Amino acid sequence: MTTATTEPVRLPPGPRAPKFIQGIALLAARHGAIAVLGQRYGNSFTLNLPVFGQTVVVSDPVLVKELFSTSRDLMGRPTNNLGDVLGAGSMFSLDGDELLERRKLLLPPFHGKGMRSYERITEEEVMREIANWPEGREFETLEPMMRISLNTILRAVFGAEGPALDELRTLMPVAVTFGSRIALMPARVRRDLGPWSPGGRFAEYRRRMDALIDSLIADARADPAYKQRSDVLTLLLQARYENGEPISDEHIADELLTMLVAGHETTSAQLAWAVERLRRHPRLLKRLTDEVDAGGSELRLATIAEVQRTRPVLTAALRRTKKRIRLGDWVIPEDNTVMASIQLAQASEQSFPDAESFNPDRFVGAPPNPFAWIPFGGGMNRCIGAAFATMEMDVALRTLLREFRFEPTDAPGERRHSRGVAIAPGRGGRAVVYRRKTDASSRADSVAVADHGST
Ligand code: HEM
Repeated sequence: MTTATTEPVRLPPGPRAPKFIQGIALLAARHGAIAVLGQRYGNSFTLNLPVFGQTVVVSDPVLVKELFSTSRDLMGRPTNNLGDVLGAGSMFSLDGDELLERRKLLLPPFHGKGMRSYERITEEEVMREIANWPEGREFETLEPMMRISLNTILRAVFGAEGPALDELRTLMPVAVTFGSRIALMPARVRRDLGPWSPGGRFAEYRRRMDALIDSLIADARADPAYKQRSDVLTLLLQARYENGEPISDEHIADELLTMLVAGHETTSAQLAWAVERLRRHPRLLKRLTDEVDAGGSELRLATIAEVQRTRPVLTAALRRTKKRIRLGDWVIPEDNTVMASIQLAQASEQSFPDAESFNPDRFVGAPPNPFAWIPFGGGMNRCIGAAFATMEMDVALRTLLREFRFEPTDAPGERRHSRGVAIAPGRGGRAVVYRRKTDASSRADSVAVADHGST
C-alpha cells in the first residue's frame, strides 16, 4: 500500500540528458524511446520532461496496483490544459472528493438500461457508414471509424437526433480538432483576444456548441417520454448527488464535451488497429467470422483485448503526488509526476508470455490481470467510457465481419502514428473488403449480445 513518508527521496535511475533533449526524444520516437528505456532500466525509471517535470515511470503490475489504489489524499491528477479548455465542470478539472462524487453519477449510465439501446445505435451507424464501402479496392478505415464513433456518441451520449444531430456532426470534428490543438498552447495564447485570435476562435466554437447542447437539454426536458429516455444527457439531468442536488446544466455541457474528446478518436483508432491486425491474421479472421455466424462472442472480445494490449491508443496514465510517498521501494517527493506506462506493462514477457506475438487465444476463458492489462488506466481516474468503448468495438466488429469478407494481406504491419489524442495506424488501417452474401447479412441485430460490463 502506498503511504505518506518522511524518508529521504529515493528514485529509480534514468537517463541524465537535459529535460528538453529527453522531451524531444520522446516526442520524436514515443513508442521506440519508451521501449528502449524499458530495456535499459527495467520496469521503473525516472525521466525529466518538459511540462511534466520529474516523472517516475512504473509498469510492474505490483507497483501499478499500488499506484491505482493510492488514496486521493496522496495522489491526484496532474495539472492539464484539457481541463481549462473543457471547462470547470469537466472531469479533467476535478480531483479528490469532487471527482469521486461526479464519477458516482457518471458511471451508471454506462452500465444500466441504456446499453442495449446504445448497441442498436452503434449497429445502425456502422450499417449507414458501410453502405458505400467500395469492394475490391484498398481504402483507409480510420476516417469511416471516426464517423461511426462520432455519430454513436452524438446519438447515445448527447441524445441528439434530427437537425441538431446534423449540425453537431459538422461542427464537432472541426471544433474538437481546434480545441485539442489549442489545449497544447500556453494559457496566454488561449485567451480570447478577439475573433481573429486562436482563443477568440475557440470561444466562438464553444458558444455554438453550448447553444446546441442547451437546445438538446431543453428538448429532453420537454420530451413527454423524458422518464423513459436512455441517452446519457438525460440520465445526467435525472441524476442527483447524495445531498439531492442535480448536476448543473453548465457542468453537464462540459462533461458531454469531455466524453466526446476522450471517447471519439480513441475508439476509432482502436477499431482501425483491429482491422489492421485482423488482415494480417487470416486464420483468426476465419474463426471470428465463423463465430459471428454461430452467434458467439468470446473470441471476438478476446481479440479486442489483444488489439488493445498490443496496439494501445493511449500509452500512459498520469498522476501527481500530493505528498511525499513510498511506492514499492521508491520514495517519491511531493508534486512529482508518476506515470503508469500502458505500453511497457502490456509488453511485459512476465505478464504476457511471447508478448510480441498477436494471440487473442491468450485471453479466451482467461480474463486479463487488471494491473498488467491497463488500456483504460485504473483506480480513481479509470476510463469512464470503458464499457461503452468495449460495446462499440464489439458491435462494430461483429457487424463488419457479418457484412464483409476482409482480404488478408502480407504487407508489413502499419507503423504507429500519433494523431494528437490517440495513436492510430500510420496508413489509416487500410482494408480491402468484399460483401458477403449470407442470410446473416440481412438480419439486423441478430447476433446474441455480449456482456460488455467486465472490461
Ligand atoms: C478504446 C477506447 C478508449 C480508450 C483506450 C480509453 C482510454 C482511457 C485512458 C487510458 C484513460 C486514463 C485513465 C487513467 O488515468 O487511469 C481514460 C480516461 C477517460 N476516458 Fe477513456 N478511453 C476510451 C474510450 C472512452 C469513451 C468512449 C469515453 C466516453 C464516452 C471515455 C471517457 C473517458 C473519460 C471522461 C476519462 C477521464 C476519467 C478521469 O480522469 O477521471 N473514454 N480513457
